[in-house]
Amino acid sequence: MRKVLLALVFVTGLCVPAAVAAQRGGGQASLPDGDGKDVVEIACTACHGLGQIMGSAGYDAAGWRDLMRTMVALPDAQARRAANYLASHYPATTDRAPTLMDGALEIEITEWMGPTLGQRLRDPAEAPDGSIWWTGMWASLAGRLDPATGKIEEYKLPVSARPHTIVPDADGNIWYTGNSNATIGKLDPTTGAIVEYPTEARDPHSAVFHPNGKLYFTAQGASMLGRLDPATGDVTEIPTEARPYGIKVDAGGTVWVAYNGTNKIGALNPETMEVRYYDVPNERSRIRRLDIASDGIVWYGNSTMGRIGRLDPATGEIKEWPSPSGPTSHPYAFAVVDDVIWYNESGMRPDALVRFDPKTEEFQSWALPSGYGIIRNMWVTEAGDLLIHQTSSNRVGLVKIPKARLTSQE
Ligand code: HEC
Repeated sequence: MRKVLLALVFVTGLCVPAAVAAQRGGGQASLPDGDGKDVVEIACTACHGLGQIMGSAGYDAAGWRDLMRTMVALPDAQARRAANYLASHYPATTDRAPTLMDGALEIEITEWMGPTLGQRLRDPAEAPDGSIWWTGMWASLAGRLDPATGKIEEYKLPVSARPHTIVPDADGNIWYTGNSNATIGKLDPTTGAIVEYPTEARDPHSAVFHPNGKLYFTAQGASMLGRLDPATGDVTEIPTEARPYGIKVDAGGTVWVAYNGTNKIGALNPETMEVRYYDVPNERSRIRRLDIASDGIVWYGNSTMGRIGRLDPATGEIKEWPSPSGPTSHPYAFAVVDDVIWYNESGMRPDALVRFDPKTEEFQSWALPSGYGIIRNMWVTEAGDLLIHQTSSNRVGLVKIPKARLTSQE
């Protein structure tokens, strides 16, 4: 058993230095001249490149201020200069506006902002006590929200971990994938203790608990799949097709893997660790995430093709539908709730939440209130609601979905 014990510093709403986060979002291109450029060059390059700004959908000055305040706290005069500068050079555009679909369902979205700014808040999950957890990837933290009171706590994880995904176990321990330090970590929220399990794969990515008690994970860059047994600490890893990404378990115990580097979906046998691959039509197809309906059908988002699809594991048959916002909509996070499909169009601004009913083949979609960024993973709560988040605008969110009434069956 390989494990490393670490002491944990417990923080509530404390700022983690932005310098911890590495450069992301493109190289350092140069900005056009103008008043406010100096502020942007200094304040906006600690976590990512200027490519994030140059490639953005653009905003008016109020929109830029709103977005900036989720990433960095600036004195008022500087924020105003930066926002005016950005609005004149990168004004609001509608090029990436989603095609929103009307429908009858009324959902209720509540969002909370992470205390540590620009943390790349992602991958929300519900713990057995009803608390909502997430990772702040660039700040190496785990966040905990009590949705009843709105109280938020942030737990520091090892600085080099840059956690990608978080999954609670049945006892309330919080497991995370150390995407930058080749570990799977376990946080005990009651004591704050962390145990790290080293992995051969350099970048553990997404993870899921199996009914057999073991944690299964993907490692995108390493192109590996892994299994960690919490009872023994044993880690088993295998090479796989390019860039395994989302991972889910079906009712029969098969572990389903989406591939972001090839046009395949994999069915992993949890005991033998053998993978059966299914080809998705079109070599350009890339699947980031998937989920499984009660009839065993695997639903997925085809991000490069702007489509969603269904795979019948029994026959290998695949059917796809274009997402309402078209080929550049980039379906990303994915969840099946009561056999209805939910995902987001991450290429659009605002990011759109989409519902697809397989029975009627109808879409309905909503612009996310803080949709400056991207939902990268969703979670279905015990109550059948949806946990979402936004990486850019630093939000974790709860989508209350009205439950189907039983009247017609009574
Ligand atoms: C503390 C870290 C941090 C700092 C500093 C920071 N950002 Fe960001 N920014 C982020 C994160 C996290 C994202 C989301 C990246 C992702 O989803 O991969 C982001 C994304 C963006 C995006 C893309 C939004 C979209 O459409 O998805 C823009 C634009 C942006 N930042 C502008 C700025 C500006 C302007 C500043 C300076 C005022 C700034 N950022 C400073 C963390 C930061």
